[in-house]
Amino acid sequence: MDNLLNIGVLVSGSGTNLQCIIDACSRGELPGRVACVISNKADAYALERAQNAGIPALHLDHRAYSGREGYDEALVAALRGFGVELVVMAGFMRIITPVLLDAFPMAVMNIHPALLPSFPGLHAARQALEYGAKVAGCTVHFVDSGTDTGPIILQATVPILEGDTEETLSARIQKEEHRIYPEAVRLFAQGRLSVDGRLVRIR
Ligand code: GRF
Repeated sequence: MDNLLNIGVLVSGSGTNLQCIIDACSRGELPGRVACVISNKADAYALERAQNAGIPALHLDHRAYSGREGYDEALVAALRGFGVELVVMAGFMRIITPVLLDAFPMAVMNIHPALLPSFPGLHAARQALEYGAKVAGCTVHFVDSGTDTGPIILQATVPILEGDTEETLSARIQKEEHRIYPEAVRLFAQGRLSVDGRLVRIR
């Protein structure tokens, strides 16, 4: 036994945030290990990243389950099987239910490419551009039963520049995601986060 936090990462896509968390763990920058990576998409490149790092990589197809709850029960069983203590959603394109949240109370995190509570939901960078905002950013938050509504752990801002497209702005935001997501996981792993209503305190 060691004192490393077992992290389960849920993905659907390329997994650049997953990679940063794997790298931070292997560099010893946070007292945790990625215990498993689960994707609802068979072709998610994130699964390859996990395999390359020697991490168990599972494809759990949501279409094989009749409802969201049934799928989340399968997720919980898999995560528990790997002894997961913190669930990290990193580009996981599914709405989760209380089945998963109740199994991991205040231990499910997500990253959203906007300064919440502005621009929740899909295409956050596009929403910020279309709104004419001057700053954008990203938010790591605990997940609650709403969409992108849970208590905020860390945020980072980036400027919106003249001539920005959704692609250029998203790239600028992602650079900050790659910095603050491992940082938020590190704070959790070090036991430095406490939640008081909406307020996350960092010790
Ligand atoms: C990130 O931009 C994140 O904000 C959003 O999905 C994207 C995931 O990217 N939730 P990646 O799979 O980590 O590269």
